[in-house]
Amino acid sequence: MNSAPAHNSDAVRHLYVHFPFCARICPYCAFYKTRGNSADFAAFCDALAIEAKCASEKISLDLDTLFWGGGTPTALSTDHLATLMRSFAQTFDLRRLTEWTIEANPGSVSAKKAAVLRRAGITRISLGIQSWEDDLLCLLGREHDARQAEESFRIFRDAGFENISVDLMFALPGQTESQWRASLERTIALKPEHISTYCLTYEEDTEFLARFELGEFRAQDEIEARFFELAMAMLEAAGYQHYEISNYARPGFQSRHNEAYWRGEDYIGLGPSAFSTRKNERWQNIADHREYARRLSAGESPIASTEMLTTEMKRAEQIALGLRSYQGVAADLLAASNAKALLEAGLVAYRKGRVVLTQAGKLVADSVAEELL
Ligand SMILES: C[S@@+](CC[C@H](N)C(=O)[O-])C[C@H]1O[C@@H](n2cnc3c(N)ncnc32)[C@H](O)[C@@H]1O
Ligand code: SF4
Repeated sequence: MNSAPAHNSDAVRHLYVHFPFCARICPYCAFYKTRGNSADFAAFCDALAIEAKCASEKISLDLDTLFWGGGTPTALSTDHLATLMRSFAQTFDLRRLTEWTIEANPGSVSAKKAAVLRRAGITRISLGIQSWEDDLLCLLGREHDARQAEESFRIFRDAGFENISVDLMFALPGQTESQWRASLERTIALKPEHISTYCLTYEEDTEFLARFELGEFRAQDEIEARFFELAMAMLEAAGYQHYEISNYARPGFQSRHNEAYWRGEDYIGLGPSAFSTRKNERWQNIADHREYARRLSAGESPIASTEMLTTEMKRAEQIALGLRSYQGVAADLLAASNAKALLEAGLVAYRKGRVVLTQAGKLVADSVAEELL
């Protein structure tokens, strides 16, 4: 990652890789994932190496950030991960890379794996702790408990990672305010550089949505707003900047990769189900890991669909994503009359030619974005 060549301004600077495997399937999760077996893991790794090579040959890349997400990348064995990391280092020029994130589940972390990741050049860990309450972790179907979560955080620190992010979820069924406060306190005490807090959403085709529709779980708008405000207050008081609706960072530790998405920059996605966006074109790989592997080993394309983005689609995305970030949206992109009404309602503010959400606006970010289209 040193002796960087001159910057190529036309090239794509962000690469995402989707790892489709998880040791256990969480009942609330809508990401493309499956349990898989060792033959699937090996076929996926071979196919990914082929897709990476094709991308490096066909697309002009000047990589600034690399994000290995999923699914659960750490569900792969240490040997598989080491092989893939070697293959990436040989395939891509990583000398200008400033951030290489891997998503990790506490249930699949070991000191050996952490050391291999560190040595291979990964700079940032995104650790899915979700909750510090064992009964809530059980409800979420997680493979780990709170003790393992703490231990895996320590393992990554001891391996030398200086940029660790923790994922937490809130407004879970039955979660009390004191439990949420305690989760935030325990997370702050670990001193991660970055914290993501996600309000539980009942996603299509999940067991949680089915239970919601049966009336077992209920909408809790008031609790969601209160827990969101509590997170903002506690994390900001602890020195974290609230730089996007769900994300908080110590100064200098914002996720560069996610910031690039939110600014609408181009990115290439590898792996089953991954999206890529380049100029006005967006395409998605097939969301089926076996077909993905078959196609690549047969020399076929893994792309399942492609769409052209119109100027209006790009503008709508820029508003929805930009508004979620602390930098806001350029005022001249917005419907002026609606912006004025939201300003008077105290939901947005003007800052140096840009429109940003106020604290009250952050509670209703999605509806504010709709008003501004
Ligand atoms: C790509 S996912 C999974 C990363 C990793 N496999 C894990 O579970 O720890 C990234 C994050 O999205 C959040 N997430 C997933 N499904 C969610 C849902 N239905 N509602 C809110 N947050 C969710 C979780 O916090 C999770 O850590
Ligand atoms: S939340 Fe993470 S571990 Fe759970 S199924 Fe989804 S991707 Fe897998």
